[in-house]
Amino acid sequence: MDVREDTLHGMAERAAFREMKQGTAEDWAVIGRDYREFARGLPDRVLTHLKLLDGDFGGFPVCRLEHSLQTATRAHRDGRAEDYVVMALLHDMGDTLGSYNHPEVAAAILKPFVSEELHWICQNHGAFQGYYYFHFLGMDQNAREQFRDHPHFEACREFCEKYDQAAFDPDYASEPLEFFEPMVRRVMAKPITSAYAKAIAEE
Ligand SMILES: [Fe+2]
Ligand SMILES: [Fe+2]
Repeated sequence: MDVREDTLHGMAERAAFREMKQGTAEDWAVIGRDYREFARGLPDRVLTHLKLLDGDFGGFPVCRLEHSLQTATRAHRDGRAEDYVVMALLHDMGDTLGSYNHPEVAAAILKPFVSEELHWICQNHGAFQGYYYFHFLGMDQNAREQFRDHPHFEACREFCEKYDQAAFDPDYASEPLEFFEPMVRRVMAKPITSAYAKAIAEE
């Protein structure tokens, strides 16, 4: 049976509705079971996607995967908590699909699993990183100043200064991705905040 045939006539249980408004409790029991199983695979999908950055230099001294590993390693060696290190590891994972807004992609994926502060750092790190290079591209070096009065300004400034802007050294001995995998799995094991958290909890 080829994949297309399996999709059309597969053995797996399926909801019966053609339009959502015809849905029944039985339909949603089927979908709910599949959803929980699929959600459990999120860390694997994230790690697989992160590997797409391997060998992608974009003119930088290190590839985007090495930059991610180096940012996370520097944060880890500086004693940061596990959720912070995972944020550091994933902060640029949106580079592949978010060519014009990459911080928002990683922030959206992390959002259910981290504090509001860590989410904010990830979401806004682009403007703070700009302090180190925007002026070379005819942009405003001080773009981060728009956030000066925000309670997380200093935390984001510190993330970029200590870890993100510092993570382009080809001679730095970063930990491999395998080192961080258990951390990613633990942080993403259960959402703290999600509209679907209740459905996941009812296992
Ligand atoms: Fe970035
Ligand atoms: Fe970065």
